[in-house]
Amino acid sequence: HRLPELLRQMPKAELHIHIEGSLEPELIFALAQRNGVAIPYRTVEELRSAYAFTNLQSFLDIYYAGASVLLTEQDFYDMAQAYFARAAKDHVVHTELFFDPQTHTARGVSMETVVNGLHRACVDAKAELGLSASLIMCFLRHLSEEDAFATLEQALPYRDRIIGIGLDSGEVGNPPEKFSRVFARCRELGFHLVAHAGEEGPPAYVWTALDVLKVERIDHGVQSSKDAALMRRLAQDRIPLTVCPLSNLKLCVFPDLASHNLRQLLDAGLAVTVNSDDPAYFGGYMNENFTQTFAATGLAAQHAYALARNSFEASFIDASEKRVFI
Ligand code: ADE
Ligand code: ZN
Repeated sequence: HRLPELLRQMPKAELHIHIEGSLEPELIFALAQRNGVAIPYRTVEELRSAYAFTNLQSFLDIYYAGASVLLTEQDFYDMAQAYFARAAKDHVVHTELFFDPQTHTARGVSMETVVNGLHRACVDAKAELGLSASLIMCFLRHLSEEDAFATLEQALPYRDRIIGIGLDSGEVGNPPEKFSRVFARCRELGFHLVAHAGEEGPPAYVWTALDVLKVERIDHGVQSSKDAALMRRLAQDRIPLTVCPLSNLKLCVFPDLASHNLRQLLDAGLAVTVNSDDPAYFGGYMNENFTQTFAATGLAAQHAYALARNSFEASFIDASEKRVFI
């Protein structure tokens, strides 16, 4: 059919992908072996069968365990390179990758190792695949603001390789305002700012991400539809939401894809984008997110064009380069 073909072929930007969430079970096993790291699963199939999540935290526990096989610069390079090759097949031409340095520095892996490996993969993706890629460093919100400040300090020598700062991990009980001081500092330093908000948490967290942290995009934000005033604010200010339908399905944010509110958000005039979040864990990269969601919710070609256009509009590509895509 023509619609799935349009969805697959259209150039698109991916703005919500945790690079550690692109680590496929096969690569987890290969890196575990290469690095002599023990993992509590005997086979790829046994690991994959553990991917049955009931909520965000049940996923995060397995996701952080999977990331424990990453030790060397080459590991980070290999992980990102595998993602870029896969994304290019889905006609992703620009991507802004999240990475979680605290997951690695807590295990004795240096910021230098993490950033160098990811950055080198970004440079090679442009040269070899024509895919432009940049890095957004996320603070883990279940940890303290003090810990986030220490992480920012470690990242400053690499600030020219990092375009933005994000906030991820367990949302409920860790509101954006817990990080108000460190985000203010990141703003002074000139970083772009984003935050996960309204994934499982209430609309109040979206408000404080906007008004206290002063973020430019909301990651997920699907709970915003519960608050009419918030919906008007997001529409009026064209605040992008980086929505991840298969993630929401696998983490039981919606009972099925047909119940997903992507269409409601689009129809309300919001700058919605579609993204894969943690594709190795949620059963689909970009094109699977598009084709499955369109099939389940009855979206049409005009929605596909709007979503592709939004993805470039919402990106942190320079305005002069953006015109090429929009
Ligand atoms: N880290 C990786 N994926 C995440 C998600 N969907 N929400 C919060 N933190 C994450
Ligand atoms: Zn995410």
